Amino acid sequence: MSKRAVVFFIIINSLASFGSFFIWASFVYAKSCTECHSDIGKGHTYTHPALNLGCESCHLISDGKKHPEEKNSIKLKSDIPELCIQCHKESKFQGKYVHLPIEKGMCLMCHEPHQTNFKKLLLWEKPQEVCYRCHAKEKFENKYVHKVAQGGCGIRCHSHHTSEYPKLLSSKINDMCAGCHNYQQSGLHIVSLPKGKVHPVFMKKDPKNPKNEMTCISCHNPHSSKYQKLFTYKNICKRCHIFY
Ligand code: HEC
Ligand code: HEC
Ligand code: HEC
Ligand code: HEC
Ligand code: HEC
Ligand code: HEC
Ligand code: HEC
Ligand code: HEC
Repeated sequence: MSKRAVVFFIIINSLASFGSFFIWASFVYAKSCTECHSDIGKGHTYTHPALNLGCESCHLISDGKKHPEEKNSIKLKSDIPELCIQCHKESKFQGKYVHLPIEKGMCLMCHEPHQTNFKKLLLWEKPQEVCYRCHAKEKFENKYVHKVAQGGCGIRCHSHHTSEYPKLLSSKINDMCAGCHNYQQSGLHIVSLPKGKVHPVFMKKDPKNPKNEMTCISCHNPHSSKYQKLFTYKNICKRCHIFY
């Protein structure tokens, strides 16, 4: 053997003894992932920009295994949600109130990892359809429906991941409602009171729910109701008063 050949032989051998060279080599010379998985990243309106960073940014061939010949030859680089958090800021999924499926790392209950025809890689076109996967649809489909709830739960009302306010609201209840119903924030819309009186809509304890203050939802269901004006009760005044 010439001197050069010996050096070459030693280098090759030492790489091989690290155990990774031949795996690496077979990986490089193997077919690309999309030669076999030609459906991934194609034929849909939206693709996850992560695909541009390569399949290997999420998938790994298991050490020493041949893919696809061997079982369990391919695995995710890490579990979900850790995988997602490698590229998406973790702080986005932390907050005072965290939606339970986020806390449990169930990102794939709502999102596709590769591609979809729907915005934000969601599994369904209308965001509320995603919500109905886990929240009973009937609650939102009583006779009288709050029109805004038909436009998607996220529109101005709920955050999907986390929130600083209870019930994942985008702000305090009355402030949120007032975003669209400014006039009613004063309580002046509650007519049929003795002259000069204004009904409280905040800062008083709700007699039916003494742990909470009065809010818009003391009288109105935010989603839908069997009763007109989205009332939570048929004769709404009787819910809390005897004489009105
Ligand atoms: C030679 C063709 C071929 C190549 C190249 C290939 N795959 Fe596959 N892959 C397959 C086949 C066939 C299956 C289905 C095996 C099965 O269903 O049991 C599969 C299954 C998979 C699965 C599902 C595995 C599971 O356990 O559920 C993933 C993920 C995957 N491939 C990713 C990749 C990635 C990433 C690459 C590139 C690094 C790649 N594949 C390269 C043919 C290929
Ligand atoms: C953002 C991370 C990410 C990237 C990038 C990615 N995948 Fe995936 N892939 C996933 C996740 C998550 C799953 C679901 C695994 C599960 O359900 O256990 C998956 C599942 C799969 C599956 C099995 C189920 C199916 O949908 O057919 C195949 C095959 C696959 N990926 C191939 C690929 C190929 C090929 C690429 C590159 C073109 C790629 N993936 C890029 C995250 C990714
Ligand atoms: C390798 C990096 C990488 C990983 C891992 C990754 N993503 Fe992404 N993702 C991106 C990039 C880059 C974008 C585009 C920029 C952005 O919106 O932050 C994106 C965008 C998104 C979007 C928004 C798409 C849109 O239309 O606005 C969603 C939803 C998403 N990712 C979900 C996930 C989920 C769920 C996981 C885990 C299964 C994940 N990502 C893992 C890189 C990644
Ligand atoms: C309950 C359903 C649900 C779950 C679970 C969920 N998401 Fe989302 N996510 C959404 C919805 C809905 C949007 C669209 C928000 C919009 O249109 O403004 C979204 C948007 C996103 C976006 C786009 C950027 C942004 O903030 O607008 C990213 C990235 C994302 N989600 C990542 C994740 C990751 C990572 C997980 C798991 C830790 C996850 N999501 C779990 C419903 C969900
Ligand atoms: C994977 C299942 C799942 C999906 C999908 C889902 N949720 Fe949830 N959600 C839960 C669970 C579990 C809870 C906690 C139990 C409960 O309060 O009912 C919860 C609680 C909530 C709460 C109440 C939080 C609290 O503090 O009481 C709101 C509001 C909410 N989800 C809104 C949504 C919206 C909006 C969507 C659609 C973008 C959605 N959810 C999709 C599982 C899901
Ligand atoms: C994003 C805007 C928006 C927000 C936020 C909003 N609403 Fe509405 N609301 C509407 C629209 C649109 C209608 C339908 C008006 C119509 O039919 O003329 C409506 C109608 C109503 C009605 C009348 C229903 C009827 O049958 O006459 C009540 C009561 C109501 N909303 C209460 C609330 C309460 C309580 C909140 C907060 C929990 C709230 N709204 C938050 C947009 C909104
Ligand atoms: C004490 C019960 C009560 C509370 C609290 C209350 N409302 Fe009402 N609301 C009513 C009654 C009663 C009506 C029907 C008025 C009528 O006779 O037309 C009504 C009607 C409405 C309507 C239909 C349009 C209108 O003005 O008649 C909207 C919108 C509305 N309320 C929004 C709100 C919002 C937003 C809040 C919180 C800031 C709120 N309500 C708090 C009792 C209440
Ligand atoms: C969810 C419970 C609740 C409902 C429903 C309700 N009220 Fe009240 N009402 C209250 C509370 C709380 C107060 C404040 C009591 C106090 O000042 O301590 C109040 C006060 C009043 C007052 C006295 C106001 C003042 O300035 O002295 C009148 C009048 C009144 N309500 C009439 C009505 C009428 C009419 C209805 C139906 C349209 C109604 N209420 C529905 C809880 C309710």
